[in-house]
Amino acid sequence: MYQTQHLKEQLKRISNDILQPEDFHDKLAPAITAYTKLLFDIGEIESNDTEERNHINLKFGNAIGTFWAANCVKEVLRTQRFVRGLYLAIQDKLAQKSGPIHILYAGTGPFATLALPVMVQFSPEEVQFTLLEINETSHSKLLNVIDAFGLRAYVRQIEITDATTYILPNTEVDIVLSETLNRALIKEPQVFIMLNLASQLGNDVTYIPEEITVNLSEKKRNDNTPRKIETLINFNFDKMKEIISQSERYKWIFEEIKVNIGDVEVDDLYYTTEIKVYRHNFLAYEASSLNLLERVKLEGKYTKDLIFKYFANGKPGFSAH
Ligand SMILES: C[S@@+](CC[C@H](N)C(=O)[O-])C[C@H]1O[C@@H](n2cnc3c(N)ncnc32)[C@H](O)[C@@H]1O
Repeated sequence: MYQTQHLKEQLKRISNDILQPEDFHDKLAPAITAYTKLLFDIGEIESNDTEERNHINLKFGNAIGTFWAANCVKEVLRTQRFVRGLYLAIQDKLAQKSGPIHILYAGTGPFATLALPVMVQFSPEEVQFTLLEINETSHSKLLNVIDAFGLRAYVRQIEITDATTYILPNTEVDIVLSETLNRALIKEPQVFIMLNLASQLGNDVTYIPEEITVNLSEKKRNDNTPRKIETLINFNFDKMKEIISQSERYKWIFEEIKVNIGDVEVDDLYYTTEIKVYRHNFLAYEASSLNLLERVKLEGKYTKDLIFKYFANGKPGFSAH
């Protein structure tokens, strides 16, 4: 009991530091370092265990292994912006209705990293979480982590399931949170998890992140920053509604985007990614691994008139031809 209380107090101190309003401040990096150590110790993450490094390959994208999912916490600005975004979204919901606010967190990894610092700021009467994770090792470690901090009272439900096809037993959800993301929306199933869940929910739900934008951009060797040529997708609530209304479930249809690249060299073409997590919490170019450049690979013959289309088929991403 004493140990649980002690761990919870450490988590609360870390949470207070992460939630500070400034985007960059002296307490941020130490808080993330302390949070990482705490979680890795409790979760007993084994860097040499091959089982913990294995990804699960699914039609709608990879579920990354326990070790890799655990490591996401170390991305300082990513973790800060998502934790702050979730905290603000809960405050906004609590201003509109009485609790508990029900948060559906899809793809928790072994720690539910983005949720724990938020749980300790509220009471179980104010927030309740449903936690979904497909990886069994991550799921069983998560149970241990939640117990170690004494946070069971905040968990309504915890399931091993594929969130891209999961049917919600209860649609009273206020906030959907997922960070199953990679740069340029490649490899991981973020888009398909959000579409599956949104297709079952009403219009009052807040989605975190609120918007993910992938642009076609030009960056010459000596340029410091990329120059946007065209937006390829603005994945937000309106876009989800549009895709859902024009698709059969699990056969999601994405539009083709035609772009004339003019004088731009193909070797200078990149996908760039910007994320609006919630309200003023953004992740822009180079803020995290999610915002790194992804080179455009053309299929077929070179032409100046290119067609881009997002697709799933085991390895999500944009095709370009
Ligand atoms: C990038 S990690 C993020 C972990 C943690 N949420 C964080 O932000 O630090 C994504 C997690 O989502 C899980 N995941 C990926 N695809 C999933 C799916 N289709 N259903 C459920 N979980 C999934 C992975 O197994 C992994 O644990």
